[in-house]
Amino acid sequence: MVTVYLLCIALLSVVVGYGADEAKTQKPNIVFIMADDMGWNDISLHGSDQIPTPNIDLLGYSGVILERYYSHCVCTPSRSAFLTGKYAHVTGMQGYPLTNSEDRGLPITEKILPQYLKELGYATHLVGKWHVGGSRRKYLPTKRGFDTHFGHRGGYVDYYEYTLEETSSVGLVSGMGLFRNETPAWDVEGYLTDLYTEEAISIIKSHDESSPLFLMLAHMAPHGSNDGALLQAPVQTVRAMRHVENPARRIFAAMMKKLDDSVGDVVEALDKKGILNNTIIVFVSDNGAMTSGNSINYGSNLPLRGLKMSPFEGGVRLGGVMWTPLPRANHLYKGYVHVVDWLPTLLKAVGADIPKDIDGINLWDDIVANKESSRNEMFEIDDYSGFASITSGDFKLVTGNVTKAYSDFQGGGTLAGIIGKPPSYIDAVKKSKTFKSLEKLGRSLGVERFTHARQNMKIMCRETISYDETKICYPQNDKFCLFNIKEDPCEMKDISGLHTDLVRKMLARLTAEKNRLIPRTVPLFRDPKALPALHNFTWTIFADNL
Ligand SMILES: *[C@@H]1O[C@H](CO)[C@@H](O)[C@H](O)[C@H]1NC(C)=O
Ligand SMILES: *[C@@H]1O[C@H](CO)[C@@H](O)[C@H](O)[C@H]1NC(C)=O
Ligand SMILES: *[C@@H]1O[C@H](CO)[C@@H](O)[C@H](O)[C@H]1NC(C)=O
Repeated sequence: MVTVYLLCIALLSVVVGYGADEAKTQKPNIVFIMADDMGWNDISLHGSDQIPTPNIDLLGYSGVILERYYSHCVCTPSRSAFLTGKYAHVTGMQGYPLTNSEDRGLPITEKILPQYLKELGYATHLVGKWHVGGSRRKYLPTKRGFDTHFGHRGGYVDYYEYTLEETSSVGLVSGMGLFRNETPAWDVEGYLTDLYTEEAISIIKSHDESSPLFLMLAHMAPHGSNDGALLQAPVQTVRAMRHVENPARRIFAAMMKKLDDSVGDVVEALDKKGILNNTIIVFVSDNGAMTSGNSINYGSNLPLRGLKMSPFEGGVRLGGVMWTPLPRANHLYKGYVHVVDWLPTLLKAVGADIPKDIDGINLWDDIVANKESSRNEMFEIDDYSGFASITSGDFKLVTGNVTKAYSDFQGGGTLAGIIGKPPSYIDAVKKSKTFKSLEKLGRSLGVERFTHARQNMKIMCRETISYDETKICYPQNDKFCLFNIKEDPCEMKDISGLHTDLVRKMLARLTAEKNRLIPRTVPLFRDPKALPALHNFTWTIFADNL
């Protein structure tokens, strides 16, 4: 009897192949959503009433809110670190972001996350930004583990024209920067955030469930575009943000709204496909907002100090949430999580082996069980700008030369202003697509619970934010600054004088780490071979036939 039964099962398995049995053990899908230049104060999850982001917030309320999520302070370094599980300074990708006319890319000797997942049988798709190399075919995402890529290869493009401007030897030049796999995407039309959302939905809809899915949705929003048209959003969406006092921040708020809607659309698409209950969704920013300076987007990192391109908390401490189908993974996680940790953490989540020679730490078990984080140390090293910082436990030491204009408190005044009453947060949450999809899954939460969580997320500075430059510590050459970032999250009080032994130890660790650094080899040379006029006015590969 038993034998016959077993035989039947065996036969069934042969006939059905990836049948019912297999489906139950299907590895989880991963949808990794990365925002671009989104600051701490740009999502309502952190307590601000100005820009409601209910879809992003809900993934946190019904999943894990990463309260101390860190990344590198610039796009190219952060994305390199995410893909490799290594600090950017170890692969030579640190510092000033790649320009379109630079012949440089993430070394192809590095094995990256989509390649690991491909080996595990995943279908792998990149929608949106790449920014770790586009000068040669071998650097492109479709040569590095992604089955498909629809998006921009460089830092940003125009949200409607998909062009990027760069200053070259012949002056300011412009080229098309949007590609479908290896060819320019001349055929598409529309607002870039919508295009990326539509592509992501179409991938989810047509996904063949016999294999698990890895979808990286690397939005351009809310990054600024070219000078002269820095901020762009559909006019109706801007109009709907008329409670935002500052006109520039109002457009920024609309860009954020489109980004948040996109998250809701993706969750709904996973729900409709019936795979939300087997999908891990991560939403993070790549670095802090650019409140002033190059590529200004009027984002805000307040009350944190500093912007993108600075090692202060505003540049590196970011919004991050991880939603999983596990109902027990539902809390505010206070431990450190760094961008390098995603590769081992996600590989562990899908039951795969973790590579040894990386900087990332598998934090899956720590995060899911809400245990203390195995990460205790983080580095931010930029040999191009000349600064370096080390975080060790509660303390952070900042050394070298920082750009002062990116290292203070920005985003107050009219940028923070609200005209009249802000829109109802509770209404926005209840109307969101994510709320509906989570409800269907039995994962919705009481309104009181998320109002409370939101209050808990507000960072309290040790004193009123000081705009007085003389009162805060700026490192320079041999002068360094030490902060207790747990007690003083806004980095207002230099305590290096009180902890000379600790400073010595941290400096020694930093020096040792700097020995691992591969210099940012090519200086900011604009290769004339990259000129769009030579390539039918596109920023395509240009260095292959040297
Ligand atoms: C997810 O839900 C679908 C439809 O309700 C069900 O068939 C499937 O077994 C569930 N998967 C998991 C992993 O719970
Ligand atoms: C900081 O800048 C000074 C010149 O202003 C330079 O001499 C020094 O080497 C720089 N330090 C670092 C760590 O780059
Ligand atoms: C060159 O660009 C135009 C759009 O300006 C496009 O329609 C055309 O297909 C491109 N030609 C080639 C050979 O790619």
